[in-house]
Amino acid sequence: MKNNPNKKYIGTLSQKELLRLYSKHVNGPKVRMFKGFGLGVIPGERNGIHLKTLEGSKPGDPPIELYNCRSSGGVFNLGHRNPRIVQTLKNALDGGLDLGDHMLLSEQRALLGKKLAELMPGDISKTTFGVSGGEAIDTAIKFSRAYTKRRGCVSAIGGYHGHTGFALLTGDGDFKDPFLWNFPEFKQVPYGDVDAMRKAVTSDIACVILETIPATAGVLIAPEGYYSEVREICDDKGVMMISDEVQAGLGRTGVFWAIYGGLYPNERVVPDFIVCGKGMSSGVYPLSTCSYKPFIETPVFKDDPFIHISTTGGSDIGCAIALEMLEIQSDPKFLAHVKAMSKVFGKGLEEIAEEHSDLIKEARGRGLMWGLEFHNEEDSQLGMISIIKEGILLNYCGNKKDTHIIMPPLIVKKDEVEKILEKIRQGIINLKKIK
Ligand SMILES: Cc1ncc(COP(=O)(O)O)c(C=O)c1O
Repeated sequence: MKNNPNKKYIGTLSQKELLRLYSKHVNGPKVRMFKGFGLGVIPGERNGIHLKTLEGSKPGDPPIELYNCRSSGGVFNLGHRNPRIVQTLKNALDGGLDLGDHMLLSEQRALLGKKLAELMPGDISKTTFGVSGGEAIDTAIKFSRAYTKRRGCVSAIGGYHGHTGFALLTGDGDFKDPFLWNFPEFKQVPYGDVDAMRKAVTSDIACVILETIPATAGVLIAPEGYYSEVREICDDKGVMMISDEVQAGLGRTGVFWAIYGGLYPNERVVPDFIVCGKGMSSGVYPLSTCSYKPFIETPVFKDDPFIHISTTGGSDIGCAIALEMLEIQSDPKFLAHVKAMSKVFGKGLEEIAEEHSDLIKEARGRGLMWGLEFHNEEDSQLGMISIIKEGILLNYCGNKKDTHIIMPPLIVKKDEVEKILEKIRQGIINLKKIK
């Protein structure tokens, strides 16, 4: 049988039929929710920083072009279908790669492990691979427990590290209670509160886990010195410090690691673990990484090197793509571009917040990761719909619904930043008209 090179993948279903099938076979309540918003945001064609919907807001209407300011939390740091990444995927396949065999050794895993070690702060130099962010977080918590021989974990209220096993335990009750998944050893504290952290880190705690810029909690910015103090608390108590850089890492702040100078230029903290996901995939092939200091390896793997495995985690193709992504995103010129764009973007959002202070409380962020906090949830939700209708895809934060999270791809250009700001401003003006 011959492959059909012209096989169509986008637009094979009408929006109506897609919604019917999705509701019947994938997730009915999700379809009902999107219908409730009155938005038909179903990705159709996608390229660079743009995403076209399958159809317009009404069935049969032409597609709407959106600037993707969600970037799916960093998955599309390099935009959609970045030509260098797409070419790498093709080369990897043509060059003889496939998933590889997780039980065997791998050339690509060795090369990616080396590259990550070169980029990591301090002596973080070992990497265990996974498929999703949640899996890599589970790995970090699992290894912390093996190393410390303790069970406990401290995380931030409102924080989010995934919906898998240990990762789910670090999150808020809304997500774990329905699954009867809650253990007293997993504690949550208010984010940014050093005293609360000190109190919570008792002798039964294995690890402290924090997103460097908690995204789902509302793009929170900790006071300067917070992470240095968390590091000290962990050192005092022999506790592992895990930095979740799934959204804030890989150059999102204009510095490669948010925890190492990205949040505050003079605060460079070396945790015991750095976890990456989302952007590791470059939007085309899933991969996550749990990188850690070498002393953690022996207690975990010495008795059985197969004690932790992942069949599709750290696939050869995924590693080849991540290597190319790291080459691009760690380039000082690339990081300088993110910094330059962030200045324009941040200033623009702060101006919008000031102009519309009756609706917006604050704009805050780092690099190209920003939060726009409204005075209340209703305005935030209506504002989101209004801004999407202007052609900007963004969303409110899952655990802080009064705040929009805005993360354009890192490749965004100055004129595009200006256009995005103009559209956000117009979305807010339109919101005022309908209120
Ligand atoms: C900060 C952070 N950590 C971990 C995860 C989990 O990643 P995944 O959905 O790939 O399991 C997410 C996902 O949104 C995230 O935002």
